[in-house]
Amino acid sequence: MVLVTGGAGFIGSNFIRNWLQYEKDPVVNLDKLTYAGNLHNLSEVCENPLYRFVRGDIQDRALVREILLQYQPRAIIHFAAESHVDRSIHSPSNFIQTNILGTYCLLEEALAYWKELSDEKKKHFRFLHISTDEVFGSLSPFAPASTETSAYLPKNPYSASKAAADHLVEAFGHTYQLPILITRSANNFGPCQFPEKFIPHLILQAMQGKPIPLYGDGLQVRNWIYVQDHCNAIRKVLIQGTVGESYNIAGIKETTNLELAEWICEILDELKPDASVRPHSSLIVHVKDRPGHDRRYALDGSKIGKELSWMPEASFETQLRETLKWYLNHPGWVNNILSGEYQNWIKHHYQG
Ligand SMILES: NC(=O)c1ccc[n+]([C@@H]2O[C@H](COP(=O)([O-])OP(=O)(O)OC[C@H]3O[C@@H](n4cnc5c(N)ncnc54)[C@H](O)[C@@H]3O)[C@@H](O)[C@H]2O)c1
Repeated sequence: MVLVTGGAGFIGSNFIRNWLQYEKDPVVNLDKLTYAGNLHNLSEVCENPLYRFVRGDIQDRALVREILLQYQPRAIIHFAAESHVDRSIHSPSNFIQTNILGTYCLLEEALAYWKELSDEKKKHFRFLHISTDEVFGSLSPFAPASTETSAYLPKNPYSASKAAADHLVEAFGHTYQLPILITRSANNFGPCQFPEKFIPHLILQAMQGKPIPLYGDGLQVRNWIYVQDHCNAIRKVLIQGTVGESYNIAGIKETTNLELAEWICEILDELKPDASVRPHSSLIVHVKDRPGHDRRYALDGSKIGKELSWMPEASFETQLRETLKWYLNHPGWVNNILSGEYQNWIKHHYQG
């Protein structure tokens, strides 16, 4: 049994499906179901006897303790976070609460639980914290990609809160010997990503013939990884990673936001030849830049390649096309979120 936090979100839900497919080991999902948590992402596993869901906050220490004692997990895989940079700029408070204090609560409870395990179980227990390339801050155009030992230079409230969480996790590993691991990945894309994020937002605007807003000149550079590649890498690190170590999980594709937007528009021109506005790229508009917008992130993923023989498998072009098709083929999922129907569903089923 493993405990996943934030498993109703984009990456967490992809991870739970991936885990049940490849590991066939029970998983309990602790998720608060904020606006970003969506149980419909897990509809294909909700009847699986190996899957359990608990609605709750990682800051609720009594609940976390109860889950640990009841389910006796051999690992915690910690995805739960506030994850949208724009929201962190407008309202940082939830980011401090969940990403820093929430991680701290989880660490305290994990440590208390771990200390009581038998020596054998203690040796095999892992606390795997999911982090981001954004903790390294913005790189200049020709700077080498960030490695696991690069300095932390977070520049917005989201990345600062994730950096603080990383430090706490490392401190619990170093000070109390809690067997921790940290992964830091590039930008993810794939099915079930909340429509406020760059790729789904762009796809949905274009599909509806609405303007596609690009911050500033659109020349910000990002490294992209397909979400299932990320999930495979997390499993690999969990099983084979060296305790106390961190691993960058880089994608193959580094591109500017503008190039990516144009690419998506071209694919949509092909997939939707009868769209009212064509070419879709005519919908691209440049809007005022995000305050403090990081110019470039780039991750050096050679450590996980050398030490754990892991490489991303997906072709960026193929998976981008598949992701577009997924959004085109799941209008119900999209409408549920955009219309607010999903939030009503949560209220109805979980009393708000
Ligand atoms: N999306 C990316 O490109 C990316 C890249 C690198 C790292 N990450 C990291 O991966 C993790 C998952 O990202 P995502 O894109 O799936 O995020 P997401 O916003 O889609 O999902 C976050 C999930 O956490 C849950 N949650 C939030 N606060 C909670 C709390 N206090 N208690 C319990 N559950 C809570 C939400 O309900 C939601 O289900 C995050 O830690 C993020 O920092 C994301």
